Amino acid sequence: MAITPPDERVWWNEPVEKTEVLWVTIALIWALVMFFMMPYWHFAGEQNLSNEAYKGTIDAYVEKVEAAAEKYTVREEGSTGIPVVRPPVGGDAYMIGRQFEWWPVLELKAGETYRLHLSSADVMHGWSLLPENINIQVHPEYEMIIKITPTKAGTYGVLCNEYCGLGHHVMTGRIYVTE
Ligand code: CUA
Repeated sequence: MAITPPDERVWWNEPVEKTEVLWVTIALIWALVMFFMMPYWHFAGEQNLSNEAYKGTIDAYVEKVEAAAEKYTVREEGSTGIPVVRPPVGGDAYMIGRQFEWWPVLELKAGETYRLHLSSADVMHGWSLLPENINIQVHPEYEMIIKITPTKAGTYGVLCNEYCGLGHHVMTGRIYVTE
């Protein structure tokens, strides 16, 4: 409420300034450009991951990861006792994040497409693939599935980039990509 009454009684129904109309129009056009850039860039930018997510339980996910590890383990990672799992070509690869490791180590074939499943057994973690710049938040009770096609053979590191507790900085994993 104003202390003094306005000069014009109908102060709220003045014609809109031309410059204001111009700015609102420009802002609207720009908002629309940015809005349509999102779906456009998803397909044309080759950087946003298309993924699926499913709600589930931690126990059910752990069971799936362990069943896959039991079936497809080819060796152990050094003396760590962590299995190196080679999932079927074109099939499902499972990895779980938990305080404080990414388990198991995966071995994939270059040029083949896999469905990579990710979830957490406790708190939120950040799945970060190095030296590629791929980052995915990993939540307990949600199973993320990402279609990946490794193109270059080599050894890739998985780091946790979401603070998850005292051992956060040692939470690492590994993916081997073979020819
Ligand atoms: Cu897991 Cu930080």
